[in-house]
Amino acid sequence: MALSRKDVKLPENYPRHLLLEKHAEFICKYGNDPNDYEYAMSEFLRMNGVYWGCSAMHLMGKLDSMDKQEIIQFLKDCQDENGGFRPVQGHDPHLLNTLSAVQIAVIFDCLEEIDSEKVVDYVLSLRLENGSFMGDKFGEVDNRFTFCAVACLALLGKLSRLDVDKTAGFVKACLNFDGGFGSRPGAESHAGLIYTCVGTLAITGHLHYIDADRLGWWLAERQLDSGGLNGRPEKLPDVCYSWWVLASLAILNRLHWIDKEKLKDFMLACQDPETGGFADRPGDLPDPFHTLFGVAGLSLLGEPGVGQVNPVFCMPQQVLDRIGVK
Ligand code: FPP
Ligand code: ZN
Repeated sequence: MALSRKDVKLPENYPRHLLLEKHAEFICKYGNDPNDYEYAMSEFLRMNGVYWGCSAMHLMGKLDSMDKQEIIQFLKDCQDENGGFRPVQGHDPHLLNTLSAVQIAVIFDCLEEIDSEKVVDYVLSLRLENGSFMGDKFGEVDNRFTFCAVACLALLGKLSRLDVDKTAGFVKACLNFDGGFGSRPGAESHAGLIYTCVGTLAITGHLHYIDADRLGWWLAERQLDSGGLNGRPEKLPDVCYSWWVLASLAILNRLHWIDKEKLKDFMLACQDPETGGFADRPGDLPDPFHTLFGVAGLSLLGEPGVGQVNPVFCMPQQVLDRIGVK
């Protein structure tokens, strides 16, 4: 009996090209109406949402349609006195929002508008003895936070304030027998966490800890018959994994290990031709998170009309070149 894997079928009439103008409209409209259900439900994601939106808009050459002054004011209102950023006023600061805030400030070329020295203090205050990072004062440890911490410091030109060997050592301790990484030592390999670990090792100059052929094989195995990529065996394909998997393969110089044409078809089929935006999979509701990863993933596949994305930071390469981050 042939082994069948969970997958989706692409609909017959899906858009065969990138609906760039529609996606820009979708991002501009999203979250602008405080009466929207999404607006109320996504408060804790507001800072991340602004990053997803402005990174996607920059890649599509549409950043000027965003209100830079309003966004700067939002950033200022969300920086806590401890230096970290809240998702929105009234919530607690967290490393996840702090990285998004720094990314937004870099994309809009307005780092001077935030207190960067305090950001560095906040990030370093969350370090633990074993090289890992807590996400906030409540103490959860996860490699997502390790990545947020090193990415923040790198974007602010302050990586030298960290013992990078120690941090890379923690990531190495999360390496599994299958070549992948999990959230903590002993945790199962997961493409999202692999991205954060590969990104952390790239930023800290420790990519040699990775067996690129073994990990590249695990990542390439994520491609299903529909062309889409899943995040772990036995999961459905999802556009955001086009990013987590593809970016990891790009950092490992093994992007050619997947079938790019088939993946592109899957991603194009996740576009909503009416409202614009990408959904996780064909037919589902679009959202800004999957829209960024759809656009950024297509950038890695060389899509014309989309700017070059940096696979480590998920930001336009142009803005990283401007601040001299490799
Ligand atoms: C899947 O999560 C994704 C991850 C675990 C990676 C998240 C990465 C960050 C927060 C770092 C910052 C990211 C960028 C692009 C700068 P999930 O909870 O959706 O996993 P599931 O699919 O298993 O539910
Ligand atoms: Zn997803």
